[in-house]
Amino acid sequence: MQIGSLAVVGAGQMGGGIAQVAAQAGIKVTLIDVSLEAATAGHGRIAKGLDKLVEKGKLQAADRDAIVSRIVPAGDVSAAKGVDFAAEAATEQEELKKKLFRALDEVIAPHAILASNTSSISITRMAAATRKPERVIGMHFMNPVPVMKLVEIIRGAQTADETYAATKTLAERLGKTTVLSTDFPGFIVNRILIPMLNEACQALQEGVANAADIDTAMKLGTNQPMGPLELADFIGLDTVYFIAKVLHEGLGDPKYRPNPLLKQYVDAGWFGRKTGRGFHTYAAK
Ligand code: CAA
Repeated sequence: MQIGSLAVVGAGQMGGGIAQVAAQAGIKVTLIDVSLEAATAGHGRIAKGLDKLVEKGKLQAADRDAIVSRIVPAGDVSAAKGVDFAAEAATEQEELKKKLFRALDEVIAPHAILASNTSSISITRMAAATRKPERVIGMHFMNPVPVMKLVEIIRGAQTADETYAATKTLAERLGKTTVLSTDFPGFIVNRILIPMLNEACQALQEGVANAADIDTAMKLGTNQPMGPLELADFIGLDTVYFIAKVLHEGLGDPKYRPNPLLKQYVDAGWFGRKTGRGFHTYAAK
């Protein structure tokens, strides 16, 4: 199936990134959020990001205009009616995502696919909340979406072969490389990444080294673009803690226990970059 139009639900950082790469690939995008104002604000952030590319000489002004005009903001999921593919990138709360999936299931055409950008919630459970679970799939983009080359595709227990094939083709059209994961907690990336970030928090808590040295050690010693504590701040400590809990509860092994220092930072409201303080401090934008 050739995907001609896309709805992205959630106009935040991830949803905005998905809308941008889809529009850059020539696909018409309906960008939906809880209100038209929120969706329009997301649309504005995409335009601003593209302006930077124009300033750097990496994008023509006319191409920027064409990309921006391919994205139409909307304040209600009913705007997804008629699209071939709906990608949900809302807040990481299972009940909210299920509610959105049920609403999308009502409005989209029988042939359309329902994808979630969830980083850790079970695709099988979300699919079971819909009338056509075989058209539900996980399509997990990495942050920042325009830069990161990977899309992790997650097949739920009910996902049909055609749903998987169309999703893979779409991701490749967006310039991404895909990997296939079964539906187990954390999928591939977070199953491996989150325990590493959690272990960095444990090392900090035990006084193995300070935050700067832990990050420098892993950056220069293992050729990673960011150290683990810097990366945790970048992802959001609330998100890292949430995924750590999903791994711990879902896999039932004490080795996945969320680190207490990480929890304390989350309790304090120190979520990392987005709040200006996490394991490092950040100047207000
Ligand atoms: N949108 C678009 N482009 C961006 C961007 C954004 N938000 N952030 C950076 N870029 C671009 C810059 O424009 C720049 O492009 P050019 O080289 O063409 O000029 C390029 O990326 C490099 O950026 P910078 O020079 O500003 O900074 P950097 O070299 O330090 O790279 C980074 C920044 C790409 C974020 C890099 O530090 C990095 O790769 N970090 C690790 C990111 C990562 O691991 N992400 C995955 C997180 S896990 C996840 O997302 C899954 C989950 O479920 C938790």
